[in-house]
Amino acid sequence: MKGPIGIFDSGYGGLTVLSAIRKQLPQYDYLYLGDNARTPYGTRSFETVYQYTLQAVRYLFSQGCPLVILACNTASAKALRSIQQLDLPHLAPDRRVLGVIRPTTEMIGNQTTSRQVGILGTSGTVLSDSYPVEIRKFFPDVQVFQQACPMWVPLVENNELENSGTEYFVGKSVNNLLQQSDHIDTILLACTHYPLLLNTIKKLTPEHISIVTQGEIVATSLVDYLERHPEMAAQCSKHGDVAFQTTDDKDKFNRASAIFLGYQTDATKVAL
Ligand code: DGL
Repeated sequence: MKGPIGIFDSGYGGLTVLSAIRKQLPQYDYLYLGDNARTPYGTRSFETVYQYTLQAVRYLFSQGCPLVILACNTASAKALRSIQQLDLPHLAPDRRVLGVIRPTTEMIGNQTTSRQVGILGTSGTVLSDSYPVEIRKFFPDVQVFQQACPMWVPLVENNELENSGTEYFVGKSVNNLLQQSDHIDTILLACTHYPLLLNTIKKLTPEHISIVTQGEIVATSLVDYLERHPEMAAQCSKHGDVAFQTTDDKDKFNRASAIFLGYQTDATKVAL
């Protein structure tokens, strides 16, 4: 039986990844799941994020998804490896779970000339140290500086994208990052919510610094993955459909999704 590609996020952020993926792979079907009832994940412990993410992956498997993308840096940082190594072999050996960190780190070293990269993410992603560790594997000469931005996800979720209060918190985190080194020439937005703040971030960042978002990188990497794994591509259904599910109120999801997608979804509420 073929099934949709599962796209999981703690809330709405993964919608930015879904949009980018659908642009490059419109022929596939997608099932988006947002764990809005338990968002944010960024401030939660490793064990909690792992348990929540595992529940979501099991649920998406039960809905027939042969392949699940964790479109959330926090879940990718704190849960992906355990799920791939400990759970998948007995849970569903023929299915796959992929994250967003590896594809991003594989290319970030090609973007920097100064060989100094800044990472902006949730506290969970920053504390996990996943980005410095993974970037070092591909680009040992690249120095990585990190800054947690605990206020940014709530600002995005409340649609406070471009005003003076938002500029205060965005400017504070960007400055904290740039104070760590004068030579950072590339900043990665390592949280799938942050592309919504791109205009404000660009306004408050020196022009010579390039800001990298993940959606397209993850999408390109998925195209490549499906080409390299035709047996997985064959298990993914292709009608160009997308369905949205949330663990919280569906009307709230539908209203908020318009901020991320530019159109209203017709989500259903599910329990994990
Ligand atoms: N969008 C999620 C990420 O990419 C973070 C949101 C949250 O803290 O739950 O890390």
